[in-house]
Amino acid sequence: MQPFHPYAQYSFVQQPEQTTASTYMVSMQPVTFPFSGRTAKNRFLKSAMSERLATFSPFDPSGRGQPTEELVRLYETWAKGDIGIIVTGNIQIKKDHLEATGNTIIDRDLPSVYLQEWIEVARAAKSQGSLIIGQLNHPGRQVSINIQPYPEAPSDVEQPSTGGVLFGRPTPLTKDGIKDIVNRFAYAASVLHRAGFDGVQLHAAHGYLLTNMRTDEYGGSLVNRAQILLEIIAAIRQAVQSPSFIISVKLNSQDSVPEGFCIEESIMVAKLLEIAGVDFIEVSGGVYEQITRSSRDKPYTVETREGYFVGYAELLKSHLNLSKVVATGGFQTSQGMADAVLARDRGQPLTAEPLLVRDILRGEKKKAKGDKFPESPMLRFVASAEQIAEIGNGQDITDFDNAFHVARFIAKMQKEIPAAISEALFS
Ligand SMILES: Cc1cc2nc3c(=O)[nH]c(=O)nc-3n(C[C@H](O)[C@H](O)[C@H](O)COP(=O)(O)O)c2cc1C
Repeated sequence: MQPFHPYAQYSFVQQPEQTTASTYMVSMQPVTFPFSGRTAKNRFLKSAMSERLATFSPFDPSGRGQPTEELVRLYETWAKGDIGIIVTGNIQIKKDHLEATGNTIIDRDLPSVYLQEWIEVARAAKSQGSLIIGQLNHPGRQVSINIQPYPEAPSDVEQPSTGGVLFGRPTPLTKDGIKDIVNRFAYAASVLHRAGFDGVQLHAAHGYLLTNMRTDEYGGSLVNRAQILLEIIAAIRQAVQSPSFIISVKLNSQDSVPEGFCIEESIMVAKLLEIAGVDFIEVSGGVYEQITRSSRDKPYTVETREGYFVGYAELLKSHLNLSKVVATGGFQTSQGMADAVLARDRGQPLTAEPLLVRDILRGEKKKAKGDKFPESPMLRFVASAEQIAEIGNGQDITDFDNAFHVARFIAKMQKEIPAAISEALFS
């Protein structure tokens, strides 16, 4: 299970040259990406949320990763929400290295790459004119021991147990192993391209594989550590052969752990990504054992939970000439979101209200629904995952602004995953 990150998942494509008075209008306006030349109908972006709505078989990997009709329904629903850019939840590139059970997988070693199913997902997501971007991921050492007791990672340093989940000791990847992973990312991108996706996003945030800490030519200096990302981008271009295919990267602003990736490094990697022709960089932060979500990381985050990476996004924007910067995290109000186009903002959960962007654009809502959870990113995360499944199933979405529903949900979780929930409540 991926235990971090609160709910919401609004993001904004930054355009700092606008004035405050016009920012709200700006967020409604189209944005054209510099390298692909593709245009999104507005600057709202739904960031990746692991849907866990694919098939899963514990012992037979060939029964895994197939997109279901629930997944299609979920994207049909988000499409109706008038979101400019929709990024899928993380799609795994190896059938036995998963972020969670129920992940979608594109792996040439599976009996099928599920092209027809991906065509359906793309059709659903694009039905109202949104761009659809598939997020590709390898979890590295952050794979539950129940799924993979022998993770592969840049080094042999084990992931500390988090949220009641245990992790195996990783084997450092060989150079051949790295080449294989590069090819797998490119292959998965080519399948999504064939299925009608507008682009891909490489997940280089939150401590997964592409957050790299090696000491050979894929490690050490920052340029070396960014090497795997740059090779994947080159391999995708080769495999897809379409200049209008969007390539994006989700990048940590900082890991917020000792010896983790820091802000200065993040800026340097972003500059390399711009040279490599990355259309937009989505900034995030934290790894499994350290959630970045508040004023803890000042001065690059704002004082409240709302828009907590906006400060960093602004800083990064000032270092880039072409690539767009997307700020994700903690948005809750329309004014906040509008301001974020200039500076900082708030947002609302797209799992609680999948049509929220449409309602904001129509002027029908100014603020996302709140929730009555105690301050716990883990609980909000699990609650969002529950809402995703409800939307996929065509059920009513649980209203966590209702204290009774929150209490019932916590009680249910305490029965199902007691260790994780007590950690979430009492840490
Ligand atoms: C249920 C859930 C699943 C998530 N899955 C992913 C994921 O697959 N890939 C990713 O990059 N981020 C994932 N995130 C993190 C979000 O994309 C986002 O960065 C984070 O929730 C902070 O933004 P927010 O405060 O608007 O929610 C997930 C978040 C939630 C709540």
